[in-house]
Order: sequence, then structure tokens, then C-alpha cells
Amino acid sequence: MSYTYDVLNQLTRHLISEQIDFEISDLYEMNFKSDMTADEYEREGFANIDLPIPSDVRGEHRKIENADCLIFLYPVWWGDCPSKLKGWFDRVYSVGYAYGHAKNFPKMKILK
Ligand SMILES: Cc1cc2nc3c(=O)[nH]c(=O)nc-3n(C[C@H](O)[C@H](O)[C@H](O)COP(=O)(O)O)c2cc1C
Repeated sequence: MSYTYDVLNQLTRHLISEQIDFEISDLYEMNFKSDMTADEYEREGFANIDLPIPSDVRGEHRKIENADCLIFLYPVWWGDCPSKLKGWFDRVYSVGYAYGHAKNFPKMKILK
């Protein structure tokens, strides 16, 4: 068993024993797409918030809005997170939502 998976199991057991509601997003199990499409790059690279946000990214936004806390659990690869998670940040921290806020656009919840 991997070290990261072992930490996840211990964390899960602790959350259950503390009766804390949680949701696990396993990016590999979800087959989360970590590469941007050309359209997404157009939106993010040029801050064109009139372009649509893909439904899988909106799904991640909904999870953030439902949460009081986020835990990023990952192995360190070359001093950084694996590319799967890096792609999550690239796509989910969308312009207009996570930064570059605009009026009448849903804004990312601030988590403490
Ligand atoms: C591609 C790759 C790059 C890694 N880079 C680092 C690193 O920069 N620093 C570090 O301390 N460990 C590094 N490691 C070791 C992993 O962090 C370590 O294997 C991991 O914590 C173990 O978790 P796992 O058993 O869930 O894979 C690297 C491992 C891999 C596979």
C-alpha cells in the first residue's frame, strides 16, 4: 500500500470517529482531466469570462462551496504535487471564480 493511501485511511478513520462529514475526490478514480482544452486556455489565458466553464470544473466548484475545509493529500514529486493535481488547480481555480472577480459572477468561497 502506498504511504499516501495509508495517510488517507488514517485520516478517514479519524474523520469518521469525530463524526465529521467529508467527501473524498480521488482525481485518478474520477479520471479527472488535467489538461486544458484550447477553449479553456482561451478563457483562462485571456480572462475571457464570457466563455463557459466546463461541467466537470463546475462540479469541483460545487464541492468547494459545500466545504468548510479542503485537504490536499498527495505525494511530493520533484518538490511539487503530481501533474494530476496541478491540472486540477489550473482548471478549477478559474478566472472570475477564484480570482479576477467580476460582478454577477459566482465567486469562490473563502476557506479558512
Ligand atoms: C516522480 C517522483 C518524484 C519524487 N520527488 C520527490 C521530491 O521531490 N521530494 C521528496 O521528498 N520525495 C520525492 N519523491 C518520493 C515521494 O514523495 C514518496 O515516494 C511518496 O511520499 C511516497 O508516497 P506513495 O507511497 O503514496 O507513493 C518522488 C517520487 C516520485 C515517484
